[in-house]
Amino acid sequence: MRKFPEHFVWGTATSSFQIEGGRDTRGESIWDQFCKNPGKVLNGDHGEVACDHINRYPEDIQLMKDLDVPWYRFSISWSRIFPDGDRVVNEEGLAFYDRLLTELEAKGIKPAVTLYHWDLPQALQDRGGWMNREIVEEFAHYCEVLFDRFGDRVSNWITHNEPWVVSWLGHGSGEHAPGYRDIPAFLKAAHHVLLSHGKVVEQFRAKQRKGEIGITLNLNSSYAADEQPSSKEAAVRWDGFLNRWFLDPVFKGSYPADMLEHYSVYTDFSFIKEGDLEAIAAPVDFLGINYYSISYLNHQPGAWLDAGHEGGGHRRTAMGWEVYAKGLSDLLIRLKEEYNNPVLYVTENGAAYDDEVTDGKVVDSDRIQYLQEHLDACLDAIEAGADLRGYFAWSFLDNFEWAFGYSKRFGLVYVDFETQERIPKESAKWFQQVIQNNGVEVQVKTN
Ligand code: FCB
Repeated sequence: MRKFPEHFVWGTATSSFQIEGGRDTRGESIWDQFCKNPGKVLNGDHGEVACDHINRYPEDIQLMKDLDVPWYRFSISWSRIFPDGDRVVNEEGLAFYDRLLTELEAKGIKPAVTLYHWDLPQALQDRGGWMNREIVEEFAHYCEVLFDRFGDRVSNWITHNEPWVVSWLGHGSGEHAPGYRDIPAFLKAAHHVLLSHGKVVEQFRAKQRKGEIGITLNLNSSYAADEQPSSKEAAVRWDGFLNRWFLDPVFKGSYPADMLEHYSVYTDFSFIKEGDLEAIAAPVDFLGINYYSISYLNHQPGAWLDAGHEGGGHRRTAMGWEVYAKGLSDLLIRLKEEYNNPVLYVTENGAAYDDEVTDGKVVDSDRIQYLQEHLDACLDAIEAGADLRGYFAWSFLDNFEWAFGYSKRFGLVYVDFETQERIPKESAKWFQQVIQNNGVEVQVKTN
């Protein structure tokens, strides 16, 4: 068995829109609207009920406790706190998170709270959402309300979950809410998301708030598909698009020069104002990483960034994502080397498979193998000096997987969406063992 460092943080993760439901007790969010657009979300699925966590949270937290999971990463729904996107607070919304925190405290589970996991109040979208610079102040105000209310009970805050997804999938490719397909809008939204992060960190420090604050980025390792120099260049562009565009401003206070050049055909960047980059680079206490898969690139004229995607020949999850755990250790080591050895947490990692219940059990060996390989990769990175302090499995429960609706199951716990019955999968029991041992049995590496 390979052991993790003492005090390594173990947890599971979820997000508000994906599990809460309780649509009638909050304002409309951009995902409620998006779900109504025919063809945007598989099977017309929506978040009205989801896992009904709004009502079932005591049972869910008890399950976490039974599984010995010491930390829980969840997000707060902005539209539950400010249903109309103005500054009129919904006390009932705050009361829900108050009850949730009380329940967690009663079970000895520590919270890590994401402030924005994609469910923007629709009323703010109607004012331009992340494309309108005013959102920075709105986000800062929303966060202040939460820090004031819960700051003495939450020690770990994550400003944003995956700015690349918010900006690119939401405004560039249109696969996510609010569904724009507009490159300038992507770049503008990305900047405002990053700026809002920086402003919130600045004010967190200015008010000398207790606890730690950071950001979660979805990062991957981008490799050249072959030995061609043009493939290597495509991989560098892809890395710039996905990783460096977000890492560099946060850790270096600048956008990467090569990407500024690539993007200059789309925008004059006039939305970047003096002082913005200093604000974005406000020092964070940690970087959260959501890691799922890798990319292999080659030169493909006419494709986005002239980058074509090749398979790497690895096995795939039900999402079609290639499984390559070494991509995670490569990434963690690279962050240590190129970004000044930041404190790191894997805030999401996991896999969807077509789980089935047989005789009351879900035997999800594929998921166990996925998790085992990625935990092994975490240990490789720690041995190589990466300052990785914790790991959160995505997800605690099967839930609403965005454009894929309820068709993709990422949970350690199976959810029957008809009856809302929860069944811990074999992977949940396996993860419990990992936590109890603070270590993982290592098998022969398969790729
Ligand atoms: C991440 C999201 C999370 C979930 C997983 C599978 O991009 O943060 O909400 O959808 O992917």
